[in-house]
Amino acid sequence: MLKPEIEDGQTRLADPQFRADVLSGLARRPRAIPARWFYDHRGSQLFEQITELPEYYPTRTETALLQSLCGDLREAVGEGRAVVEFGSGSSTKTPILLECLNPGAYVPIDISGDFLRESVRPLAQRFPELLILPFEADFTRPLTLPRTIEDMPKLGFFPGSTIGNLIPLAAIDLLRAMRASLKEGAMLLIGMDRIKGEEVLVPAYDDAQGVTAAFNLNLLERINRELDGTIPVDAFRHKAVWNDDRARIEMHLEATADAAFEVEGRTFDIAAGETIHTENSHKYGPRDARILLRAGGWTPVREWTDADGRFAVILAEAQAERPAP
Ligand code: AVJ
Repeated sequence: MLKPEIEDGQTRLADPQFRADVLSGLARRPRAIPARWFYDHRGSQLFEQITELPEYYPTRTETALLQSLCGDLREAVGEGRAVVEFGSGSSTKTPILLECLNPGAYVPIDISGDFLRESVRPLAQRFPELLILPFEADFTRPLTLPRTIEDMPKLGFFPGSTIGNLIPLAAIDLLRAMRASLKEGAMLLIGMDRIKGEEVLVPAYDDAQGVTAAFNLNLLERINRELDGTIPVDAFRHKAVWNDDRARIEMHLEATADAAFEVEGRTFDIAAGETIHTENSHKYGPRDARILLRAGGWTPVREWTDADGRFAVILAEAQAERPAP
């Protein structure tokens, strides 16, 4: 049964897709729940804290890169493009780009109207002259952008290495959907985290202060809050492992003792040592990143990395419909 959830003084219904993903994810083997469900109010707060951890290099590295590439980028993309951001605008990266490019319009796309409105307000204040057109939609499918920007060439913006959450098959589908939405002549500025040593990668996802652990475990708390769950959260521990074959960090929640619990009236049993897979964070070497983009219909034209080669920001252009052999 759907239960109204009191959060921030507002009454909400649990998302039916969340319910379906949790119930099927706990029933299958291996157990897995999509990473997108981390981001309730508490999860978003914890993620903000993650971005400030000494071990979590991606956010600060990408932010510094975006600051330093402005001159090059302006030259490469020209003026008057509409910037289309996939995912609600981040509080620090988006202004850097808007400041740099002074675009014809800014279109943040997000599936959550709440996040969209929250992220747009400070931007509208800071860029009073800018045409901002928030767009509530699921960007994993091709979409029709507002008529107002129909004739402007587009620059897609997909920072944060969010693409890394997707397995390659889904990543390519997403890149193709973006190309279909942005149309011919479009460009894409995308952030991708690089492959590096386990001694750097694992602590980035298993920090000393335990913030990432709390972020991962909050998923169980969210299930208990929103889906009438009785999961004994103390019987689970956060686990981050590097899967070298698939070039990704995996996050799991491992049962430390046998446990039985209910979610939405259904009973689940988990044995000590079993895990629930909660996130993949794929890393891409320089060629891997370029192949992925090409497979998704985008030709890389420029790329920038920090001095240590930890993180890459890549500019690509939409491939023509029928490229040469
Ligand atoms: C927001 C998906 C880029 O994979 O690094 C951070 C999420 N998970 N720590 C990432 C995350 C654990 C993050 N992304």
